[in-house]
Amino acid sequence: MTTALVPGSFDPPTNGHVDVIARCASIFDRVVVGIVINPSKQAMFTPDERKAMLVEACPWENIEVAGFEGLLVDFARQVRGDVIVKGLRAQGDFDYELQLAQMNRHLSGIDTMFVPTRPDLGYLSSSLVKEVASFGGNVEELVPPVVAKALADRFPA
Ligand code: PNS
Repeated sequence: MTTALVPGSFDPPTNGHVDVIARCASIFDRVVVGIVINPSKQAMFTPDERKAMLVEACPWENIEVAGFEGLLVDFARQVRGDVIVKGLRAQGDFDYELQLAQMNRHLSGIDTMFVPTRPDLGYLSSSLVKEVASFGGNVEELVPPVVAKALADRFPA
């Protein structure tokens, strides 16, 4: 039984996140999606809201969604994660993600595997989605329906 841990802020989840989680669900026995809870960082959606969005957007049987505070590697031990999985969009992601992966391996011995994002979703980010939605732009093709609805409620036309 191999467990993949897919961590992130998911503020909010995008179709890029869901694609990476879906691919993990078909490769690994069990997938834990870990939502980082960082009280010092201002998020648009609460951890509970983000969890509800991910649960609805990722209806596969082998997925669990949970929030965590503190170090990712401590959470990985807690949920018995064998490997951390991150999506990679472009070169800019790689430099930062490599640093995190190497630090996490140093701290715990847990390896990180990278999944290249689908090319048609490579430009997507939660920040850009929030910015576009806040100015009334259409994000329906970029996020799961549950997230599009939450953004529409947050930014009424
Ligand atoms: O979606 P994001 O913001 O790119 O996710 C970043 C995340 C949550 C993976 C990273 O910030 C993280 O692991 N935070 C937990 C704190 C931690 O372990 N920091 C040391 C990383 S080497």
